[in-house]
Amino acid sequence: MRMIDLIEKKKHGQELTKEEIKFFLDGFVKGEIPDYQVSAMLMAIYFNGMTDNEMLEFTLGVRDSGDVVDLSSIKGIKVDKHSTGGVGDKTTLVIAPIVASFGAKMAKMSGRGLGHTGGTVDKMESIPGMNTSLETQKFIDIVNEIGVSVIGQTGNLAPADKKLYALRDVTSTVDSIPLIAASIMSKKLAAGNDAIVLDVKTGSGAFMKTLDSAIELASKMVSIGENAGKRTIGLITEMDIPLGYNIGNSLEVIEAAQTLQGHGPEDLTNVCIELASNLLYMAELDTLENCREKVRKVIRDGTAFNKFVDFVKAQGGDASYVENLDKFEKAKISYEVKCKTSGYVYEMDTEKIGIASVILGAGRKTKEDVIDFASGIKLAKKTGDEVKQGDTLAILYTNDESSVKDAETLVLEGYTLSDNKPELKPLILARVSKDGIERY
Ligand code: URA
Repeated sequence: MRMIDLIEKKKHGQELTKEEIKFFLDGFVKGEIPDYQVSAMLMAIYFNGMTDNEMLEFTLGVRDSGDVVDLSSIKGIKVDKHSTGGVGDKTTLVIAPIVASFGAKMAKMSGRGLGHTGGTVDKMESIPGMNTSLETQKFIDIVNEIGVSVIGQTGNLAPADKKLYALRDVTSTVDSIPLIAASIMSKKLAAGNDAIVLDVKTGSGAFMKTLDSAIELASKMVSIGENAGKRTIGLITEMDIPLGYNIGNSLEVIEAAQTLQGHGPEDLTNVCIELASNLLYMAELDTLENCREKVRKVIRDGTAFNKFVDFVKAQGGDASYVENLDKFEKAKISYEVKCKTSGYVYEMDTEKIGIASVILGAGRKTKEDVIDFASGIKLAKKTGDEVKQGDTLAILYTNDESSVKDAETLVLEGYTLSDNKPELKPLILARVSKDGIERY
């Protein structure tokens, strides 16, 4: 087999076979096929897409380039949730204890912050003592004992994806929906769970800026998951507005804990209820409607919050912080961003707000940067709110005084005011399953 013939085939939109895909991925990982030929193949895929079969074989090939986690010693149905990344998205911290409250198992690998979006592992580490790099056996033992554990991704999960992503990054082939779908699903399948709920964000703060592109990505990931024998559902959720009010690591842990205590913001609470209910539905707890009711109940009666406390303790975290949220260290500087005119918040540029939080210290500007867990932003106003000149739009928190002006500029640019009250979109825009697409 010759790589040039496979490129020629894909260039003409013909379907590659399982053997051909395996040949090209193996050769790439071993360094036998040069980057320039793989780059040409990626560009051919970019323009001609991949069939469902190609996507499946490509994803399985990438999955099998490294370890596939064996979770068979965990009893019960193991469910996983993946978010394509947003601003203020602390849903994993809320959903994981809810799901575990019902005996479903959540053995989850999460990521760190990327670009303007935060990551669950960084958020968890803002709780003093919390260990996110447990040995596999300890991770499994905790899931068997309390139903939930969340750790960072292990070093050897889908290494071909890392290599491919680096090449895509410099060949302008990152934004290919089949390549994104295969990249995400290779890691999800390697993580070894039985069922997957994908939270595909759409809007100004998301990778997928339009609803149609988010639905297309979700459909491809559902097709890969189901064809690989895993039950998979995609929810398309709104990211034109940050989720909740708090952005930044310990600020988000605080808001997650408040949500589990039943007094979180409405948008965050509703998205978490929907994601958790779909996970429990896939864990065969009940009908989707009954799962929603059951989820509301464990939030109301304290069961879900108690599970969160157990989860923090099991991973070495000091639970007194989540039991008494005032214990979290405060940033030295808090600065109120004031509104310059009056009207309604018509629109938010969520990506700009996310970047502002990174500038304040909540994310990494370089790979080596150390996160300042206390820094971030508390929004005071969001899309749809009426504002008067001089009102506080947001409060910036940081330990780096020099970051305040740049962050303020970005936050102000992130708010568009108007005399007209905007129509708010639903939070859950669509649900994609093997049975089709439901738009809400
Ligand atoms: N996230 C991934 O893991 N892969 C992509 O290609 C894009 C986003």
